[in-house]
Amino acid sequence: MRIDVISLFPEFVAQCAAFGVVGRAAERGLLSLHGWNPRDHAEGNYRRVDERPFGGGPGMVMLIDPLRASLRAARAADPALAKVVYLSPQGAPLTQARVRELAGRDRLILLCGRYEGIDERLIAAEVDEEISIGDYVLSGGELAAAVLVDAVARLQEGVLNDVESATQDSFGDDGLLDCPHYTRPVEHELGEVPAVLMSGNHAEIARWRRRQALGRTWQRRPDLLDEAALSKADRRLLDEYRASLAQAATDVAAENPLDQARTAKP
Ligand code: ADE
Repeated sequence: MRIDVISLFPEFVAQCAAFGVVGRAAERGLLSLHGWNPRDHAEGNYRRVDERPFGGGPGMVMLIDPLRASLRAARAADPALAKVVYLSPQGAPLTQARVRELAGRDRLILLCGRYEGIDERLIAAEVDEEISIGDYVLSGGELAAAVLVDAVARLQEGVLNDVESATQDSFGDDGLLDCPHYTRPVEHELGEVPAVLMSGNHAEIARWRRRQALGRTWQRRPDLLDEAALSKADRRLLDEYRASLAQAATDVAAENPLDQARTAKP
């Protein structure tokens, strides 16, 4: 996969390819990242890339032409058809489903804005998709581009050591949050590892993990549960999770002297 990033700070995004999973993907030739700076395509001594907005108001707006020239150069650098994504808070929220779709493409061109944004006419003419990484405002699209590059890179075949780890993550194919994970030591002053994980009973472990994933999603992100297609077995597991929570709450209350006093029979 090839990703071109158009940004006033192309080195910023290039840094993504220096570390971790994206770095490994780049090293193995599974992903190539290329930066384009609109300033290199700007005219005049000052190489202006922005101007004051028509109609007044604060901030600056990025000019059409330096961005368009960068886009042309990026497109021409490779014959594969590229999808152009503009990172902006006005975009559609980035989801794992969106990431999966984008990860399956040969080429992406990511457009990063600064200041108040970019001239709307360029967006209308050149941008295929506008994406936001969350309901907050960053000072530019570069961090959002880095997020997108990371999310897409780790889905390239051969990037993760264990292919399964991509689908078992939170927002894997089932749309649920991930279950909790534990490693050595078994006993620690911060607590013990759930016994089932050491039982060697793979079916029981799988059931426990599924129950935890369902329960966590129900507690933390009930909106995701509405979207997830739960089987009858899943609903039973979720009921078990809720029942165990209710039991735990009763146990805690029973240990609390104040609660005992309140529930004590005369
Ligand atoms: N640029 C500024 N804020 C952004 C956001 N939340 N998502 C994507 N791009 C942005």
